[in-house]
Amino acid sequence: MMMDDVEKVLFTKERLDAKVAELGQRISLDYADKEIFAVGILKGAFVFAADLVRNINRPLQMDFMIASSYGNGAKSSGTVKIMKDLDFDIAGKHVLLIEDIIDSGLTMKYLIKNLQTRHPASVKLCALLSKPSRRQADVTIDYCGWEVPDEFLVGYGLDYAEKYRNLPSIGILKREIYS
Ligand code: IMP
Ligand code: MG
Repeated sequence: MMMDDVEKVLFTKERLDAKVAELGQRISLDYADKEIFAVGILKGAFVFAADLVRNINRPLQMDFMIASSYGNGAKSSGTVKIMKDLDFDIAGKHVLLIEDIIDSGLTMKYLIKNLQTRHPASVKLCALLSKPSRRQADVTIDYCGWEVPDEFLVGYGLDYAEKYRNLPSIGILKREIYS
């Protein structure tokens, strides 16, 4: 069973639903007079993005990017590669980046810098989770779900070696699984 590999559940499905609803409400208010160009960062954010956009009560376009920095392991390699770019031009658009977790911040720092060169009207970031103790690059999280300790988390889109993304809750992966 997948749950046997989880040390402790941090966020149940109920808490996730409540947090996503709250974030969606804040975003809907802040963008009251604007259209949103939402960008989900695959693969990790696919579950969060799908839930979040359904809680945003504004006209919205959806796009996705794939950025790779982690390979298959639990540590950042430090280099960021865009494996899949946006399908649309974002010039003049209000871009809302949707990410599962900001860890070192290196991936997001690179992506935001890259997107800024395309002349969007604005770029904001919504991240479900943040590990501030791990930060190596300065990243402003405009909408943050929770700050979490330096543990390896899985579920609700978060993976270890491509597994556990389908867990409905978020938990701490047992150390013996990845060490
Ligand atoms: P960063 O560049 O170090 O901020 O890397 C962020 C990316 O690493 C996230 O989009 C996740 O895909 C992945 N990541 C960071 N921490 C975790 C974790 O605890 N579990 C699963 N994936 C993680
Ligand atoms: Mg990711």
